Amino acid sequence: MFLQPTPDAITRAAALIQSGELVVFPTETVYGLGADATSQEAVAKIYALKNRPSYNPLIVHVDSLAMCEALCVFDDRAQTLAETLWPGPLTLVLPVRAGNGLAANVTAGLSTVAVRMPAHPVAHALIQQAGMPIAAPSANISGTLSPTRPEHVARRLMAEGVCVLAGGATSIGLESTVLDLTAGVAKILRSGAIGIEELEPLIGDVVFADGTEIIKAPGQLKRHYATNTPLRLNAIDVKEGEAFLGFGNTGFIGVAGIGFARDLPYTHFRNLSAEGDLHQAATNLYAMLDELDQAGTKMIAVQKIPEQGLGIAINDRLKRAAVPKEED
Ligand code: TXA
Ligand code: MG
Repeated sequence: MFLQPTPDAITRAAALIQSGELVVFPTETVYGLGADATSQEAVAKIYALKNRPSYNPLIVHVDSLAMCEALCVFDDRAQTLAETLWPGPLTLVLPVRAGNGLAANVTAGLSTVAVRMPAHPVAHALIQQAGMPIAAPSANISGTLSPTRPEHVARRLMAEGVCVLAGGATSIGLESTVLDLTAGVAKILRSGAIGIEELEPLIGDVVFADGTEIIKAPGQLKRHYATNTPLRLNAIDVKEGEAFLGFGNTGFIGVAGIGFARDLPYTHFRNLSAEGDLHQAATNLYAMLDELDQAGTKMIAVQKIPEQGLGIAINDRLKRAAVPKEED
């Protein structure tokens, strides 16, 4: 059931959340598959529909600091980050507060909880009207590309019965930055639009997870965010039978047997950002990968993306999507 996110539709969706049903809603990052975070049964429906492993905890979405502080324990860093960067694409992992009312399966039984205040007005209104924290992973089957447009939800989630608030394309296009504040130095478990250069001036030292945190953040799993078609990264040419995903100037990219990338059919060629703009590239990433995936080629060649700013998060997703299936 696809609904334009009118005030009436949001009210209906909030009532569905209150009655333990699932609702797909837009955020500024990707679409989320939401449920009442205080109901074990409602949250179980998320894991079942996504085919998500039960050990992979969910993010709890809030619409106010008061709602958030009832769920978890803030330290000074969390306070500063929440005041400065929320609402926004930043998820904080914090110690759970005793008696917080959250269903145990939201946190997969951990003593920590991931919380975030989304910046999208529809998400905000939905949480506010439901009057409760909403658990929401990305609205896709586990391991596949996250949905940045309503039509992705329709195709990838195969959830005819679920209410979808169809709010257009998401503005950021990559999942939120996940920052763990529970173990001494702050640690980025998943990179996103809020980068280390924005975090460190606010809270001091921040480090990147080194891969030993796989259980803590399965978003760190080697293969994730994947297309069916294999990817070949840092491509400087296109081989016969490949599709091509460019970034910036593609004029010099040659195609075996054809000539240049610009001579490829539209089905086989996309440019994340002809101007070389990383924000535009992030917004386009999943949708363009999805479109090229449908061309059914043997490989998608991807041009090099600079490893700076948002490029770090884009490259993180591309590297995980490029891990061969055998290594799942
Ligand atoms: O942008 C986003 O964050 C989107 C939108 C819908 O808000 N949500 C999202 O959720 O990407 P999901 O479930 O696809 O990713 C949540 C990530 C996973 O990598 C999970 O392992 C990690 O957050 N996570 C959740 N709770 C955690 C915890 N207590 N400790 C460490 N990592 C946690
Ligand atoms: Mg996800």
